[in-house]
Amino acid sequence: MEGVAIKEIAAQVGTPCFVYSKAAIVARYREYSDALEGCPHTVCYAVKANGNLGVLRVLAGAGSGFDIVSGGELYRVLKAGGAASKTVFSGVGKTADEIDFAIENGIFGFNSESEAELELINERAARVGAKPRAALRVNPDVDASTHPYISTGLRQHKFGIDIYESENVYERAMKLPHIALESVSCHIGSQILEPASIHEAIAKMLALVERLRASGLAISHLDLGGGLGVAYKPGEQAPSIANFIGRMREQTAGHGLHLMIEPGRSIVAEAGLLITKVLARKRNGDKEFVIVDAAMNDLIRPALYQAYHDIVTIEDSAKRVRTVADIVGPVCESGDFFARDREIPVVEPGELMAIKTAGAYAFAMSSNYNSRPRAAEVLVDGESFGIVRQRERYEDLIVGE
Ligand code: LLP
Repeated sequence: MEGVAIKEIAAQVGTPCFVYSKAAIVARYREYSDALEGCPHTVCYAVKANGNLGVLRVLAGAGSGFDIVSGGELYRVLKAGGAASKTVFSGVGKTADEIDFAIENGIFGFNSESEAELELINERAARVGAKPRAALRVNPDVDASTHPYISTGLRQHKFGIDIYESENVYERAMKLPHIALESVSCHIGSQILEPASIHEAIAKMLALVERLRASGLAISHLDLGGGLGVAYKPGEQAPSIANFIGRMREQTAGHGLHLMIEPGRSIVAEAGLLITKVLARKRNGDKEFVIVDAAMNDLIRPALYQAYHDIVTIEDSAKRVRTVADIVGPVCESGDFFARDREIPVVEPGELMAIKTAGAYAFAMSSNYNSRPRAAEVLVDGESFGIVRQRERYEDLIVGE
């Protein structure tokens, strides 16, 4: 990765470990910001994809804003030196404490998903004489055609306020004295490989903006969420960020809007690898298993979303015999697998493998299941690397018990 040998990192840090490329993260962020140049905009990286302080510092340094969904994510952004003034607070339900914490720190604004929450924000702001910005997250009733667990833009989903209801809600919310209603937001899903659905949502959102303006609301910002997919399978084609943003600019041109976007996966996924060591091989009947030292507690995406992650050896394996195997972790569940019936080169115990596209929703969704200490995280920068999160020790497992 960049100028560092993965073997060297594994030797010093141990396995399993996540390794992230700083250059790859910055390059993806710049693809977005370059494509938006000349148009008033804020790129708000979605912290949920990877909230490591080292990663957030890199993005803050590159000029990124942030999209958060909890007080904990705001805490991370502030610790990493991120600008509160470029931070939007999304999410289906926010507590009074989280709202207070966000107002106190002067975030850019809230994306709110219910009328009850707008009233709560108004009430909390009134207590301290503040008037934070708020947008309604509108559910545009568009099918993102992605995995059902990460599709969010249809009426049947819990997310947002029905686009057909949203004008009434805006009209009532206009009367809340401690909220500045200047913005509209939406987000229709994640891992979207066919951006036509996002463009369809944008068209609906622009029509809504114009209707709201006609009814007297000064809408200045449009937040279009995240969702652009990445290639997980060899040969899979991810949409080009530049083309996607280019089309978004064409659509929104002439509306006089400050554009906001909340990409997560497309900035960090491909910048990360999960490095794991082969513990053993075994056969059960016809089936061959490769047991590795990473597990579903480190990367739950295959178990939860039937997600495909490409897995490669670190040593050259071009000349080796190939086999078909399941690559599995040590956790006591049949759902603990990284690949099923995958054709791979024959690997030996002790050898390293890399699970690719593991920079997003990997460590961020990890747990201590089976009392497994969480993996170390490493950031590579050119010829050097640093640990950005220590591997947990057994003592860490019982903190607070
Ligand atoms: N904005 C909002 C309001 C969101 O809910 C999300 C993701 C994003 C932005 C960022 O979306 P992205 O650009 O990363 O697609 N754990 C799942 C993905 C869950 C996505 C949740 N929301 C996975 O591993 O595939």
